[in-house]
Amino acid sequence: MAIAIKGGTIVTADLSYQADVLVDGGRIVEIGSDLSGDETIDASGAYVMPGGIDPHTHLEMPFMGTFSSDDFDTGTAAALAGGTTMVVDFCLPAPNQSLVEALQEWHQKAGKARADYSFHMAITWWGRQVFDEMPEVVRRGINTFKHFMAYKGALMVNDDEMFASFQRCAELGAMPLVHAENGDVVASLQQKLLAEGNRGPEAHGYSRPTQVEGEATNRAIMIADQAGVPLYVVHVSCEESHEAIRRARQAGMRVFGEPLIQHLTLDEGEYLNADWDYAARRVMSPPFRNRKHQDSLWAGLASGSLQVVATDHCAFTTEQKRFGLGDFTKIPNGTGGLEDRLAVLWTKGVNTGRLTKNEFVAVTSTNIAKILNVYPRKGAILPGADADIVVFDPAATKTIRAASQKSAIDYNVFEGFEAKGLPKIVLSGGKVAYRDGDVRAETGSGRFVERPANAPVNKALSTWKELVAPRPVERSGIPAGV
Ligand code: URP
Ligand code: ZN
Ligand code: ZN
Ligand code: ZN
Repeated sequence: MAIAIKGGTIVTADLSYQADVLVDGGRIVEIGSDLSGDETIDASGAYVMPGGIDPHTHLEMPFMGTFSSDDFDTGTAAALAGGTTMVVDFCLPAPNQSLVEALQEWHQKAGKARADYSFHMAITWWGRQVFDEMPEVVRRGINTFKHFMAYKGALMVNDDEMFASFQRCAELGAMPLVHAENGDVVASLQQKLLAEGNRGPEAHGYSRPTQVEGEATNRAIMIADQAGVPLYVVHVSCEESHEAIRRARQAGMRVFGEPLIQHLTLDEGEYLNADWDYAARRVMSPPFRNRKHQDSLWAGLASGSLQVVATDHCAFTTEQKRFGLGDFTKIPNGTGGLEDRLAVLWTKGVNTGRLTKNEFVAVTSTNIAKILNVYPRKGAILPGADADIVVFDPAATKTIRAASQKSAIDYNVFEGFEAKGLPKIVLSGGKVAYRDGDVRAETGSGRFVERPANAPVNKALSTWKELVAPRPVERSGIPAGV
């Protein structure tokens, strides 16, 4: 059934213009004037934008002795209600577990998804088997490998392992991702803080200062440069990390940075709240920072030194957060945001003039589609692209309330936020997936999106690295090979 979206203003990463959009068979088939279909969506007064892509979610994630409470069903329902039509989740092999086996488990969990999805593969341990399985993972449509430089004793990998894995990524045309915090220093600071009687959620912030993030970001960039591979830094929260990325990019390195909507809008004062539950619900890594760091992140998005706004959606209930009563190191790390990312970014970004509408589309959809090598199937309003479309009403308002959210948890870190600018209708794969408060996409209707290796940036970088690779000097007058 063909749907004509009529009377709206198409807003893409590089252009805003008036046109109708015709979708059929899951794709955009035509853009023009006076189009008609079997069904019409009136988009007058609204913006017609590519569906949001959230490249950083943890749905039903096994972590810190529990599982995050939004699964692929409730998580993608929240995503669609918030204008996000594709999520990329992290597949986390257990220690010594086969990557391919872990991938099968994640496919199993994602069978419930209502929106399209992909996975990043995490390198949670290192060995011959991991090295050998990485090509098979790439063959199965995954071109990104995540490395945790923090969570010592659990997910953390060391520099030698990262260097080996990054080199393997370079060979495979894949891209490494890093959670950049110095995990050794964090672990020591945690023990010191506990010993000094700092047991509450505020100590989570004290244990992860911006310097540990800056150092790790610099280290990951150096390792990626030596391996000759692009690098994507997840949840960039501070100026130190942003500065490292900015400097690397100015030096010609292919480094990308992803701030989260939480770090852009919520600050470290949240951890000082007298209510333990309130503060613990906001515990995530890296922690929220101060205004200076927030300003740096906004500036990075405006100037292009940071490219993507994600959520790191990893939702734990208040009951789960209470595992850490009396010991902040046991509070499950993570916050939600899938339903709120677009509305909060529009309100705090576009309505304030910090971002243009086109920059908004770039950082919520188009840039990451290019980085993950799924553009223009995703992230574009073009004939042939998947019909993942948001009809966005800039005049619509709502107060964010946990009581009315799609997420399964009992609170929302944006509780009380007055949003202006909301998704009104969301199409996923050419069908109305969300309309005026109701998620219509069925459980299980989402599809796995394969992401091929050797993205343009990988090819450009490997070409350059090959050109400037060390070569032996040919000398005369001495025996060959000496
Ligand atoms: O605190 C966080 N961010 N939890 C999710 C896991 C991670 O580090 O991304
Ligand atoms: Zn038809
Ligand atoms: Zn992380
Ligand atoms: Zn994460």
